[in-house]
Amino acid sequence: MKPDNTSKYAANRFSIAPMLDWTDRHCRYFHRLLTNETLLYTEMVTTGAIIHGKGDFLAYNQEEHPVALQLGGSNPQDLATCAKLAAERGYDEINLNVGCPSDRVQNGRFGACLMGEPQLVADCVAAMRDVVDIPVTVKTRIGIDDQDSYEFLTDFVSIVSEKGGCEQFTIHARKAWLSGLSPKENREIPPLDYPRAYQLKKDFSHLVIAVNGGVKTLQETKEHLQHLDGVMVGREAYQNPYILAEVDQQIFGLDTPIKKRSQVVEEMYPYIEQQLSKGAYLGHITRHMLGLFQNMPGARQWRRYISENAHKPGSGIEVVEAALAKIPKELDV
Ligand SMILES: Cc1cc2nc3c(=O)[nH]c(=O)nc-3n(C[C@H](O)[C@H](O)[C@H](O)COP(=O)(O)O)c2cc1C
Repeated sequence: MKPDNTSKYAANRFSIAPMLDWTDRHCRYFHRLLTNETLLYTEMVTTGAIIHGKGDFLAYNQEEHPVALQLGGSNPQDLATCAKLAAERGYDEINLNVGCPSDRVQNGRFGACLMGEPQLVADCVAAMRDVVDIPVTVKTRIGIDDQDSYEFLTDFVSIVSEKGGCEQFTIHARKAWLSGLSPKENREIPPLDYPRAYQLKKDFSHLVIAVNGGVKTLQETKEHLQHLDGVMVGREAYQNPYILAEVDQQIFGLDTPIKKRSQVVEEMYPYIEQQLSKGAYLGHITRHMLGLFQNMPGARQWRRYISENAHKPGSGIEVVEAALAKIPKELDV
């Protein structure tokens, strides 16, 4: 059966997770060349950065659509101000970060610690929904510290959906320890509990529920989609981006041709040239492409050539061309 791609939440069937310092706009442009349908999340952007920061924290390329802005914050008015700006700029969704456990984020009283303040999260979502027409969604964990019962999660989801009006949740299916573990450890040590996310969908069947955490293949994605509305993939999509090349076909049911890796590299050239002409550094773009040939002969040479040359002053497209030439042509499939 072909999936229904027409619902306003259809893109959420498969998404790439918000990842600070990784899913910047260069990365998202690159990922978009691999998959047309996947929903792309920005890195978390704090309300403070948007409201007080120097620079344009909402900049993105039009090619990235559908693209969701992830906000970090807990002041309803500030979040509403940022959501409105983002909607005016054309973002397709606003997502609130209720999953990040870093100390810096906790000091700002946002991220995963907000799981302990569901009424505040509801107020934040309601304030944003009041001022935008696009979906306002929440990304969260299954618990924090010792508050890790199923009831804790359902209380959170009940309050945020009923009082805040949130219709969609992405559940990173492990809890977070707010102290004692680094953010990296908090993505690895607490065990994954997918059945809990499945149960949540059963108990809140009217909500759109996506799962996140530890998904590495499209086969696993399809299995989760038997139980849930969506799957969000983070590290694997970044480190092994070619898994994205068959998402449109396998997950969204399209019959568009699957691109070769070299084609994706070549399609990056005009973008790279345009960005370099605006003052970007080659290495800031190519760093997201290093994993494209993962597990292929020549992958190490590709990676090494780019790593050693892309940061040199004046480096341009020729560095990428030379790196691509390291890949045996007959193996570029
Ligand atoms: C480098 C890095 C940065 C991240 N930054 C964010 C972030 O800004 N916001 C957020 O909600 N989660 C962030 N995460 C967590 C991911 O969105 C995701 O929940 C987590 O990596 C688990 O998914 P995965 O196992 O598919 O990677 C980050 C993860 C990584 C690896």
